[in-house]
Amino acid sequence: MNIALPPMGWNSWNTFGPDISDQLIVETARAMKEKGYLEKGYEYVVIDDIWSLHERDENVRLVPDPEKFPRGMKALADDIHALGFKFGMYSCAGLLTCAGYPSSFDHEFIDAQTFADWGVDFLKYDFCNFPPYANGRQRYAMMSMALKATGRDILFSACNWGTDEPWKWMDSIGVHMYRSTGDIHDNFQSFTDIAKSQLNNFCMSGPHCFNDIDMLTIGMYGKGNVALGEACTTRDYQTQFALWCMLSAPLMLGGDVRRMDPDCESLLKNDGLLRINQDPECRPPQIVYRGRVVSREADPATGGRWHEYPDCGLTLFKHLSGGEFAIGYFNFAPLAGEVPCLFADAGLPAASGFGLRLRDAMTGRDLGLQQDRYDLTVDGHGCRVLLGRLEKIG
Ligand code: GAL
Repeated sequence: MNIALPPMGWNSWNTFGPDISDQLIVETARAMKEKGYLEKGYEYVVIDDIWSLHERDENVRLVPDPEKFPRGMKALADDIHALGFKFGMYSCAGLLTCAGYPSSFDHEFIDAQTFADWGVDFLKYDFCNFPPYANGRQRYAMMSMALKATGRDILFSACNWGTDEPWKWMDSIGVHMYRSTGDIHDNFQSFTDIAKSQLNNFCMSGPHCFNDIDMLTIGMYGKGNVALGEACTTRDYQTQFALWCMLSAPLMLGGDVRRMDPDCESLLKNDGLLRINQDPECRPPQIVYRGRVVSREADPATGGRWHEYPDCGLTLFKHLSGGEFAIGYFNFAPLAGEVPCLFADAGLPAASGFGLRLRDAMTGRDLGLQQDRYDLTVDGHGCRVLLGRLEKIG
């Protein structure tokens, strides 16, 4: 199965946790179609943990909870397919799922066949309750084989939260995306920590096997299953989406797409940012600046006229196909400050005689032909993302 671009879709966990049902999944898929998410590429609709009964049936097969999924999974999958989506489900490599439901340890081949029989196209495979006597790599390899043995194309989405440096071996066992961190929470600290922790591992992410830094929380605004800590603002969500796009990370929506805030909805469908995420070359960005941000706004905490925030500035420079480049400026400090981009750090010194013709990726606004460097004042917790092309000066 050739997964050439970062997978895009929706997953039930971040907002709904245990409160999932046939109706919710169908309503979500319909909303994604009607509101144009499918058209933008969000094609997987994935049910996470807490979908089954506690007991397997007499044939040792997993059984959907009839209260949540009265028609069973095959009929639901058929509806999801009829709407034009691919259908995803969840199991776990351990003895029980994280929420204590039956898991696929020692049932890898029968469960893979069950999923294939139901018409599943995507399997998220978790790592809770994994027995200490077993080998994690081997069990992920086993489920990968079990999925292949079904003969059905099923995207294998591993989720071992970074255990045993998965960026080094998930690719080799046939996995298509692998979670590299613990769970995201719907707050600024959580998602920035997650993205920063993986910046240097994206050199091992790309076509066929993507580093997955977890489902997005955009649009949750402090409501839902992973709404912990201080709720995000719209600006925080822009920064979240820009980070995931600059890294070419999978884009799995975690908000309630049926009632998404309009600003968040247009963010998730922004063509400039999606173009960067889905660039066919899927290159990791270079880190051209990582360091302090100096803010000249009055700091409410100290009352001082300026304040220095260590390790709060980040500039990412990404090669795209077709001779384009993306530059992402991030300010993780709470107040506005300058984030630099010295073109020489990306290989373009002033003496080269070339500059970059820049435009704002999110708004399309032309920013002119810039030479040598282009520094930006970025709002607190904010970002700016530019697209550019080389152009001869003079
Ligand atoms: C966690 C996983 C989450 C979610 C949850 C379900 O291990 O990282 O994304 O799937 O289990 O219980």
